[in-house]
Amino acid sequence: MGNVINAVLFVCLGNICRSPTAHAVFRSKVKSLNLPISYDSAGTASYHIGATPDKRSAQHGKKRGYDFSELYARAVSTEDFETFDLILAMDKSNYDDLMNECPEHFQHKIHLFLDFAENYPDHQEVPDPYYGGEEGFELVLDLVEDACNGLINKIK
Ligand code: 4NP
Repeated sequence: MGNVINAVLFVCLGNICRSPTAHAVFRSKVKSLNLPISYDSAGTASYHIGATPDKRSAQHGKKRGYDFSELYARAVSTEDFETFDLILAMDKSNYDDLMNECPEHFQHKIHLFLDFAENYPDHQEVPDPYYGGEEGFELVLDLVEDACNGLINKIK
């Protein structure tokens, strides 16, 4: 990667399911390893601004020991492209939306989150679980945990 990574932003559509899950999992791992990295999450859409994570995301995440407190949905802002060193999109549509918003000189910061996954070579995207069943929320956690581990291995 080359550059030092101090701040990571996780991005999905609503910032209530996938990116808060990544936020909670990454926060837990960074805290337990005592790493000097900051993190946040945001959505490309603005319809859930201020909302806490989806109850299903929180329930499934808490079963694996993650803390979902103090997470409130917000929309990606222009400032984020300057503030964060890595901006990680959950799916290709999030990626395209970010690239369309981002000034060219910051576009190198934007990647698909699962580019960092180590054990899921067949998955490029974290599928949106919002309209599906329980197994979708479990898959989000499986993918997010693996990509968070890979990300930490790359940047620590
Ligand atoms: P997220 O999931 O992008 O993982 O937060 C969604 C949340 C809400 C909606 C879509 C996806 N929605 O259409 O309201």
